[in-house]
Amino acid sequence: MLSWDEFDKEDSEEAVVKGANAGRAAEATMDRLDSAGGAAALEARAVTANDSAAVARAKAALDSLDVAEGLAELEGSAARVAVDEKRMINCRADLNQLVPFKYDWAWQKYLDGCANHWMPQEVNMTADIALWKNPEGLTDDERRIVMRNLGFFSTADSLVANNLALAVYRLITNPECRQYILRQAFEEAIHTHAYQYCIESLGMDEGEIFNMYHEIPSVAKKAAWGLKYTRAISDPEFNTGTVETDKELLRNLIAYYCVLEGIFFYCGFTQILSMGRRNKMTGVAEQFQYILRDESMHLNFGIDVINQIKIENPHLWDAEMKEEASQMILQGTQLEIEYARDTMPRGVLGMNAAMMEDYLKFIANRRLSQIGLKEEYPGTTNPFPWMSEIMDLKKEKNFFETRVIEYQTGGALSWD
Ligand SMILES: [Fe+2]
Ligand SMILES: [Fe+2]
Repeated sequence: MLSWDEFDKEDSEEAVVKGANAGRAAEATMDRLDSAGGAAALEARAVTANDSAAVARAKAALDSLDVAEGLAELEGSAARVAVDEKRMINCRADLNQLVPFKYDWAWQKYLDGCANHWMPQEVNMTADIALWKNPEGLTDDERRIVMRNLGFFSTADSLVANNLALAVYRLITNPECRQYILRQAFEEAIHTHAYQYCIESLGMDEGEIFNMYHEIPSVAKKAAWGLKYTRAISDPEFNTGTVETDKELLRNLIAYYCVLEGIFFYCGFTQILSMGRRNKMTGVAEQFQYILRDESMHLNFGIDVINQIKIENPHLWDAEMKEEASQMILQGTQLEIEYARDTMPRGVLGMNAAMMEDYLKFIANRRLSQIGLKEEYPGTTNPFPWMSEIMDLKKEKNFFETRVIEYQTGGALSWD
């Protein structure tokens, strides 16, 4: 039986040799602790008179646990990880060892994402509820914009979250990037929560809004385009490791980070934020503002991942792949232009579909150049420069400075 008295005695003996060879003594103490700890753990496994039959069965079952076999199933080799072994895809080093970091930018984004944490219930929806329920509150065009965007976004963020959790996470073989992907996945859950919170606060028909991605063509086309790229890599049998499968993962990352999060969100964000700038639906606009801020970080992370994969695997980024990537971004831009037309059949909120088209082409040029491709809409300028300001974290009112205290005082606020 292990007792603390024995340890005290050993501690005093140890004091004698201290000074002569402190390092060796410390090592010897650690060895003694190791063997005492191991013996104590084994002793805890012994069935005692106090154990019920169920507890005794649980202990006996553990006797046949093969530790070596269990660890062998873990991804990567059993050795300590050297930074040079770390790779974005197809890495064979142990993925459960977070450090040493290779991609500091990924860890920094994880920290930044955590520092910007927010929850939908923190946003005051009182004015929105009054405006939405007032028959004179909004024009038909404005209501159409709110409905369509909640319809698109309420499911779009679930598509992104599912793609991350069910497909991408497994295939990105780097722990610091996985750490960010887990943070991003939680943020996508918060975004879906935010849309649900808006829909519920405004008393909308939830079934109608959440099923819009099946019913409204301009919404359905965007969802279907994204889902096409999830299909192959979410197959549990799918694995990277060949040129073709590595390219398939790259296509997925371009589809989701550059197109879904980098283009498909931009018409809706601009419309809702423009509404907020005109003092309408300010609560919904504030939710979208925080979401846009998260999304711009998701996008930047995705661009870094794509470019890192290109650096580590230059053979993947051949002429064919570049052409394909460019086409994907142009297709996405076209679908978003069609969505802009459908949501704004005529001018509203000081904007119209033609201005939005210019903005989307400006955004598309950015996405193309961010992954090293040629811009396809030369001479396009940004008709909505205020959008970039909204995305800039530093210009935010002091929301992120005050919100820690708000968390400690109440997690679920009521706006009645
Ligand atoms: Fe999101
Ligand atoms: Fe996102």
